[in-house]
Amino acid sequence: MDIPNNLVGLIRSSDSIAALTGAGISQESGLRTFRDKLEGLWAQYKPEDLATPEAFERNPEVVWDFYNVRRLRSCEVQPNPGHFALAEMERYLKNFILITQNVDGLHSRAGSRNVLELHGNITRVKCSRNCGIITRWEDTSGCSPACPTCGAKLRPDVVWFGEMLPRDVLASAMQAARRSDVFLSIGTSALVQPAATLPVLAKQNGAVIVEVNLEATLLTPFVDYFLCGKAGEVLPELVRVTWLR
Ligand code: OAD
Repeated sequence: MDIPNNLVGLIRSSDSIAALTGAGISQESGLRTFRDKLEGLWAQYKPEDLATPEAFERNPEVVWDFYNVRRLRSCEVQPNPGHFALAEMERYLKNFILITQNVDGLHSRAGSRNVLELHGNITRVKCSRNCGIITRWEDTSGCSPACPTCGAKLRPDVVWFGEMLPRDVLASAMQAARRSDVFLSIGTSALVQPAATLPVLAKQNGAVIVEVNLEATLLTPFVDYFLCGKAGEVLPELVRVTWLR
């Protein structure tokens, strides 16, 4: 993949970079995306049966089981060269914020530090009655346990459809998007709000938008550079030509 020279120059001289990632970056680690027509999670399951507060109320064991399987898989797989390239990028730049929609924790395991997890993290659980309990959870078996404080059921600490994103995390992501002079959108279909608004916000504030994806998305017509390819190949190359050549 050829990275345009003027993009390399822009990244080198930029003051602040923000990157938004989606399920596509973890696909090369062996995790399923959501909207792939054949392999995507939402091709096999209905989100309204597994990823809403109503589904959890109706059928907590089924929802808990779905997240057990995904938690187990997230712990089994390893970060890939795409995750490592973003961790490396952070070390070269003064201001770099990684905003992710992924709940798999692979960015942190790859060494990224400045990570905003918009949709939560599958290795944590919280009280379904919101009594304040949030705790690390690595067990990948069993059923939905009771909150030690109030007795309500514990649930995965992820954002479900119809729920608000954590307010402080979203505010920080919006600020990072507004401040960025280069904004990278990587491995996301750019369909789910409010994450999909972040590149738009960045562009409105003058940022150069770069998209890394296997295929065009709804965002593609608005980007300045479309780097077509696997994140695990494009991102290490971007780091190599920008800082290591
Ligand atoms: P999607 O499944 O919607 O999109 C994945 C994107 O990654 C697609 O555009 C693919 O073309 C692209 N892709 C796949 N493999 C890739 C690779 N190796 N390199 C680069 N790109 C690749 O996943 P998200 O956009 O992350 O939310 O979905 C957003 C949200 O919708 C998720 O966080 C989840 C889901 O419902 C909740 O559960 C709240």
